[in-house]
Amino acid sequence: MTMNELRRVGIFSDIHANLHAFKTVLDALDSENLDYIVCCGDVVGYGAFPNECCELLIERKFPVIAGNHDHAVLGLTDISYFNDVAKNAVLWTRKVLKKENEEFLRALPLTHKLGDMFFVHASPEAPADWNYILTMGEARANFRFFSEKFCFIGHSHQPFIIENLNEELSCPSTPEIEIRDDCRYLINVGSVGQPRDRNPNACYVIVDFEAKCVEIKRIHYDIQAAQEAIMANGLSQELAERLAYGW
Ligand SMILES: [Fe+2]
Repeated sequence: MTMNELRRVGIFSDIHANLHAFKTVLDALDSENLDYIVCCGDVVGYGAFPNECCELLIERKFPVIAGNHDHAVLGLTDISYFNDVAKNAVLWTRKVLKKENEEFLRALPLTHKLGDMFFVHASPEAPADWNYILTMGEARANFRFFSEKFCFIGHSHQPFIIENLNEELSCPSTPEIEIRDDCRYLINVGSVGQPRDRNPNACYVIVDFEAKCVEIKRIHYDIQAAQEAIMANGLSQELAERLAYGW
């Protein structure tokens, strides 16, 4: 697949072992008539279905990049800075994760590129450092660390589109924007399995190169079923509750 053959691309991130949200997003992506789909990391951690989420990604053969929780489960990143809830979820995931899924996560790259698109979980500046991009200043600094027209990230679970027109940055408030020839873009695709922007619906992004637009999309899924599975597996009640608030 070359960049010139791409008409419509789907990008999602931060599934966090929430199989109910992931399946709903997959069905939505399948109805979007896409030529290419990428996952920006954090497949596991927090939710009750790490194996099932890995297995679906293996089956679908999407490009997937590594997130900090994927590395945490593998012991590749320090979890001393994780809060207790996140740490316990990592320890639980280590216990239940099958060997073959561990190998799948271990093989994930930190970045992915295709033509005009660059993909990284946290920041293009330092993909393995898991820094957050939360301010315009941080976004501005990061534009220097990718040369493509688009950089797609996840990590904060808060979707945004930042346009860079000759170093003038703006953040449109609408979920859909027109792609301009003279702009570069930093796009946070939000989270499938644990949104944190006060909207509990699962999030993903569609880029349409023919119609020249990018859209942040939201979809309702069976939150109660995901919550029940979290509780049934002895994971923290807080992890179940926050799904309902999108926080
Ligand atoms: Fe995450």
